Amino acid sequence: MDEVTYKGLTFVPYIMREEIAKQVKRVAEEIKRDYQDESPLFLCVLNGAFMFAADLFRACDIPDAEITFIRYKSYEGTHSSGNVREIMGLTQDITGRSVVIVEDIVDTGVTAQQLRNELLKHNPKQVVMATLLFKPDSLTVGTPPEYVGFEIPSKFILGYGLDLDELGRNLADIYVLKEQKS
Ligand code: IMP
Ligand code: MG
Repeated sequence: MDEVTYKGLTFVPYIMREEIAKQVKRVAEEIKRDYQDESPLFLCVLNGAFMFAADLFRACDIPDAEITFIRYKSYEGTHSSGNVREIMGLTQDITGRSVVIVEDIVDTGVTAQQLRNELLKHNPKQVVMATLLFKPDSLTVGTPPEYVGFEIPSKFILGYGLDLDELGRNLADIYVLKEQKS
């Protein structure tokens, strides 16, 4: 198995591209089942969710679906900084619409909660969250995501859009930080 190294940290293969594709398809089918008769707005949270959002949006195949982008940042290195900064805001009018937030990963839940609260101020019909990965043991605030690709333990991962200080996003598989031998 091929390891990769970024910034002196070693990562090992964790979730292979075929398994990612399978779960993306399943999540897409769940969203399609729930929203195919509406014109839901998919809201991709940049940067990490760009790859998942592209694959999910295509796989959902809802005729009147739209997609837009917002940019948040909370992680520095391998840990959440605890404060979330909005770098690029919402441009669309979401009044009366169903919004599907698309995230790469829900960790502490701080980003998700802040985003949901912000969106709810604009009177949408409904706000739900689809995330490729969810670390349930790390969730400290807010509600769990409605649509989840994989539940994983609280370990740092990268690849398929997820990064370590902007590196590793282009990996087609997902990697996990190798356990340090003490
Ligand atoms: P939260 O606000 O703590 O839930 O963190 C959400 C954001 O932190 C995610 O959208 C990711 O961008 C980033 N993040 C959380 N866990 C990881 C990880 O294991 N690898 C890379 N980025 C992560
Ligand atoms: Mg993110």
